[in-house]
Amino acid sequence: MVYFPIGNASLFIVHLVLVLLTIFLCFLGSASASAEEAAALFKWKASLSNPDNPLLTSWILRPNTTNSSNNISKEVVASPCSWSGVSCINGSVNGLDLTESNINGPIPLSFSNLNKLEGLSLNGNNLSGPIPPKIGKLTSLNLLDLGENYLSGSIPPSLGNLSNLSVLDLGGNQLLGSIPKELGNLMALRNNLSGSIPQELANLTKLVFMDMDGNQFSGHLPQGLCESGVLAFLSFEDNMLTGPIPRSLNNCSRLRHAYFNGNQFTGKLSEMFGGFYPKLNFVDLSNNNFYGELLAYWGRCPSLTTLRIAENHISGSIPPELGNLTELRVLNLSSNRLTGEIPIELGNLELYVLDLYSNRLTGEIPE
Ligand SMILES: *[C@@H]1O[C@H](CO)[C@@H](O)[C@H](O)[C@H]1NC(C)=O
Ligand SMILES: *[C@@H]1O[C@H](CO)[C@@H](O)[C@H](O)[C@H]1NC(C)=O
Ligand SMILES: *[C@@H]1O[C@H](CO)[C@@H](O)[C@H](O)[C@H]1NC(C)=O
Ligand SMILES: *[C@@H]1O[C@H](CO)[C@@H](O)[C@H](O)[C@H]1NC(C)=O
Ligand SMILES: *[C@@H]1O[C@H](CO)[C@@H](O)[C@H](O)[C@H]1NC(C)=O
Ligand SMILES: *[C@@H]1O[C@H](CO)[C@@H](O)[C@H](O)[C@H]1NC(C)=O
Ligand SMILES: *[C@@H]1O[C@H](CO)[C@@H](O)[C@H](O)[C@H]1NC(C)=O
Ligand SMILES: *[C@@H]1O[C@H](CO)[C@@H](O)[C@H](O)[C@H]1NC(C)=O
Ligand SMILES: *[C@@H]1O[C@H](CO)[C@@H](O)[C@H](O)[C@H]1NC(C)=O
Ligand SMILES: *[C@@H]1O[C@H](CO)[C@@H](O)[C@H](O)[C@H]1NC(C)=O
Ligand SMILES: *[C@@H]1O[C@H](CO)[C@@H](O)[C@H](O)[C@H]1NC(C)=O
Ligand SMILES: *[C@@H]1O[C@H](CO)[C@@H](O)[C@H](O)[C@H]1NC(C)=O
Repeated sequence: MVYFPIGNASLFIVHLVLVLLTIFLCFLGSASASAEEAAALFKWKASLSNPDNPLLTSWILRPNTTNSSNNISKEVVASPCSWSGVSCINGSVNGLDLTESNINGPIPLSFSNLNKLEGLSLNGNNLSGPIPPKIGKLTSLNLLDLGENYLSGSIPPSLGNLSNLSVLDLGGNQLLGSIPKELGNLMALRNNLSGSIPQELANLTKLVFMDMDGNQFSGHLPQGLCESGVLAFLSFEDNMLTGPIPRSLNNCSRLRHAYFNGNQFTGKLSEMFGGFYPKLNFVDLSNNNFYGELLAYWGRCPSLTTLRIAENHISGSIPPELGNLTELRVLNLSSNRLTGEIPIELGNLELYVLDLYSNRLTGEIPE
């Protein structure tokens, strides 16, 4: 999770993940899970290039009897519910959290037996090889975090069968190819992906988090991007996207973070972000080709802490209403075509960063 550029953003994700994990951990330690689940996990452990990983020492199968010639994989006493990183509901494995656990090897194929698994978090390990298409059989999954590993190959379309998925993090891997249309929900995808962002994403009515940072996506964003109105985190930072910000963003009243910086977006600034955003905290539109004026409605985002629109073609004056943004700490409007007086109201704010460099403004920088 550490790759998000902004503390608040990563805190948000960490929070999201913690909430989900807490749900799983509440159920830790129930009665015995099925022998198949234990065997599937044990089989994966054995396939790792470091099965002696100290974090997995609790992952052992004890024979049902003391008879050592019994077939161990069939007769299990020890419940995997007591193994480190494993959590259960009603005796079935429903969560596996081995974040940053130095796991070295492939993504387990045997996991398709864990049909009650709701959370799988393997972020920050040394997983390599492809994402097995069979992962699409884990239909109970609502969190799948494979970020920050060395996974390669393309994103399997079968992930589209995970209809309950609300957090998908594949960021920080070496995945190639385009986003499969079948992908029902998607999250962090910072890789080397290319092509356009499919229009079908607008149909993802459960999607709250979309991070497409640092790929090579081109073309326009889907028009209906925020038709569902549930998106909270949107990031398209550093791609090659063009065209306007979709109008549907006006419906995005739950939006908290919006990163569009470092693309070739264009369009009239006064026609975007015209909605009501009580939670909007962070906006970066820098390094694009936006034009038009900065309107007074920006002053109606009570939670805004960072507003960056540097290096565009914004004209007109700075609205004094920005002085109403009591939470604002960073305002970067440098390298635009702003004119007129710097509003004295900005002096009401406790700004850490005020960058108005390279405009045609007059007046004093307020204290
Ligand atoms: C141990 O298991 C083997 C094979 O299942 C069986 O032949 C043997 O009788 C068992 N020994 C005892 C002491 O239960
Ligand atoms: C244990 O069971 C597996 C498959 O269920 C089988 O392949 C293996 O030969 C068995 N081992 C023994 C010692 O019976
Ligand atoms: C132990 O093995 C016996 C015979 O295979 C089986 O009936 C029993 O359910 C097993 N006990 C546990 C706790 O798995
Ligand atoms: C656990 O099992 C009981 C009884 O079968 C059921 O009522 C309950 O809803 C189950 N809980 C979960 C979280 O699945
Ligand atoms: C990660 O895995 C590769 C092979 O898959 C291995 O060469 C490398 O040493 C591993 N790195 C760490 C930190 O374990
Ligand atoms: C998806 O989530 C809903 C609501 O929590 C649940 O009723 C349904 O069984 C889940 N579907 C799967 C495939 O787990
Ligand atoms: C989704 O599941 C259905 C039914 O199991 C299957 O026929 C289909 O091929 C799966 N889709 C993908 C993309 O794997
Ligand atoms: C990304 O992919 C392109 C071609 O598809 C390749 O030229 C480039 O080296 C890749 N970049 C990285 C960082 O893998
Ligand atoms: C998306 O929704 C539209 C209607 O809102 C529908 O016509 C279209 O087939 C859907 N696309 C997919 C891929 O589900
Ligand atoms: C915004 O939401 C309303 C009602 O939820 C809907 O009628 C309208 O089409 C949406 N507008 C856009 C641009 O998505
Ligand atoms: C303002 O944004 C520009 C463009 O992204 C950047 O180069 C500059 O360093 C920023 N100013 C400050 C004070 O961070
Ligand atoms: C916002 O600021 C403007 C001008 O500085 C002021 O007239 C207006 O009353 C303020 N609105 C709110 C809601 O505080």
